[in-house]
Amino acid sequence: MSALFDKHGIPLDRSPENFDASSIDDLRKVIEYHSHRYYVMDDPVISDGEYDALFNRLEQIEKDRPDLVTPNSPTVRVGGKPLDEFETVTHRFPMLSLQNTTTHDELREFEKRLRKTIDLPEDEKIHYVVEHKIDGLAVCLTYENGGFIQAATRGDGTRGEDVTKNVRTIKSIPLMVDFKQALIVQGEVFIGGREFLKFNREQEIKGERTYANPRNTAAGSLRQLDSKITATRPLDCFMHSIRNYEELGITHHHDALELLHKLGFKVTPLRLDADGIEEVLKIAGEQKIYRDKLGYGIDGLVVKVDEFRLQEIAGSVARAPRFAIAYKYPPREGTTTILAIEASVGRTGTLTPVATFEPLFLDGSTVTHASLYNMDEIERKDIRVGDRVVIAKGGDVIPKVIKVLDSESEEHLNRPRFKMPEKCPICDSDVVRDPDGVSYRCVSRNCRAVLLRRIEHFVSKAAMRIEGMGPKIIERFLDDGLIKDIPDLYHLDYGYIALMPGFGQKSADNLEEEIKGSISQSLWRLIHGISIPGVGAEVAKILVKELGSFDRIEEADEEKLAAILGIGPVLAENIHSFFREPHGEQLIKDLKEAGLLAFTEVTESKPGLASGPFAGKTVVLTGALQQFTRDEMKEKLNEAGAKVTGSVSSKTDFVIAGEKPGSKFDKAGKLGVKVLSEDEAIRMLGD
Ligand code: IVH
Repeated sequence: MSALFDKHGIPLDRSPENFDASSIDDLRKVIEYHSHRYYVMDDPVISDGEYDALFNRLEQIEKDRPDLVTPNSPTVRVGGKPLDEFETVTHRFPMLSLQNTTTHDELREFEKRLRKTIDLPEDEKIHYVVEHKIDGLAVCLTYENGGFIQAATRGDGTRGEDVTKNVRTIKSIPLMVDFKQALIVQGEVFIGGREFLKFNREQEIKGERTYANPRNTAAGSLRQLDSKITATRPLDCFMHSIRNYEELGITHHHDALELLHKLGFKVTPLRLDADGIEEVLKIAGEQKIYRDKLGYGIDGLVVKVDEFRLQEIAGSVARAPRFAIAYKYPPREGTTTILAIEASVGRTGTLTPVATFEPLFLDGSTVTHASLYNMDEIERKDIRVGDRVVIAKGGDVIPKVIKVLDSESEEHLNRPRFKMPEKCPICDSDVVRDPDGVSYRCVSRNCRAVLLRRIEHFVSKAAMRIEGMGPKIIERFLDDGLIKDIPDLYHLDYGYIALMPGFGQKSADNLEEEIKGSISQSLWRLIHGISIPGVGAEVAKILVKELGSFDRIEEADEEKLAAILGIGPVLAENIHSFFREPHGEQLIKDLKEAGLLAFTEVTESKPGLASGPFAGKTVVLTGALQQFTRDEMKEKLNEAGAKVTGSVSSKTDFVIAGEKPGSKFDKAGKLGVKVLSEDEAIRMLGD
């Protein structure tokens, strides 16, 4: 290849006039290839940075050369101008729904009916394909001349909405395929479980609303008039059908799925061939156990006749085909009776209403309690003691009250509504309603429940990592008056503790070491540990990163806090007022006296940040470290001024390899990145 081209065959000279329709097309193909490796195969071969560089290059060229812009360029994935409304699309192939079955007998019945309709000889088995029934939203995509041209929702089955612009933003859907004939495919848009949790966490950090479940979030995201919003949602899509198979000469559903896979679509991962219904039943039994382990929600299986010829003979009744059926897993729902609703006091003093109900066996375990979150939720669902309610386990397996049964009945209406107590159920102090109007809080900072939870949180792994201080010990220390609040941990009388029943010199010594050792924990851990309302680990890290020292965090006014990316106005107010309330002020004063915040200031101003072997370096960790956990090593490197990233690229300065290093080690070798052993790295840290 000429030196004028890079390894992808793209001109090295970035000036736009150097590009023509074919070379920009090559650049797009390279980007789509890497996008496919990342979003469909989950196996990227270049770093995020390299991908971004390619993408930025394309964006720049398209900006300078609007004549070369095409509707299926990867750049459209960021969304475009908002619509006033969706256009209506008439489906070329009606989008049908499926009949449901829940039992093995019903599945056998399905086959019996089917055999009758297609009049199959006794000894001939029907071949099926068994897939997951993805819990998402149906979409129908059209490709012409190898390009994506339209996406429609199911609508009433005959007509749907044109969501083309939104679907273009879904990264796992190819915009270009190596297939010139018209292609009509159907799939299911969804949001994966982990992606959903991550998205909600990010919303929380930004101070924006969080969502209740992945399916509804996916539905709302797909039906956004502003595709720029859709582009920020972690939508994904599994394809499960080719609708125009006849004109393509495809005879079996199995082959259709293979073609989709080959063309780069993300195809429903479960596609098992089954010979006869008894094999389907076997698969149904086996698959059930995997349900919770998948990264996406399913509500059962879909069983489809493999041969299209037979599918057509079978035909359809009403809106459902006779050649396919859904086998739904029993819902993770049950009914029970609410026995009590009580307010539980959390570590920031917030009162959360919790329902106790008659024990219910649900999806493998017995449940007795469910959080009702807040008064709004109770009022919206109108939940009262004595009600029959539907309980479900969410994707996160936490039981939730879905709805009240017989909510129109006189009995229900005669039951008293739940009211938040005016006095704290633990310490009898006043309960006040927060300015946000939703939460209620115990005003006392000395409330025992608040204290206990706050201290539990402070010593926890998520915060200060003080081992050997379980809830029982904290309670005993509180009962015996050894501690009244967090700072007292740093003034314990270990001589006395050694004499306490159940302790001894050794355990007292260990505890002393743990607590004193925690003085040198990172500043963010301490900030996270002191339970400022709304400040979790992520926000604490942002505060430390943006403001640098504790004093600057404490002194920042609301405006300054709210200007930080990831901190909304409500959070800014919480943080600001925390340091100015008498309790917060006292806590900080006491912590400083105990030597905590003084130490972190010293760490922050260590000269290591500006100089030293790791200052300004980009480091990647691989393999199992022996002397530190990954988190600890990361923290040490950060303190020494290094940035620790997840993947190796040409910009990586060092790879630190523990035992059994992974592919990052190989990549470092290929790129000539310097590899350090754990010992070497520790030595360098000590410099
Ligand atoms: S086949 C006519 N395959 O379930 C056959 N559908 O209740 C229908 N769905 O509208 C399409 N996963 O949105 C098929 N692997 C899968 C599916 C699937 C989910 C949805 C689809 C359909 C609905 C019917």
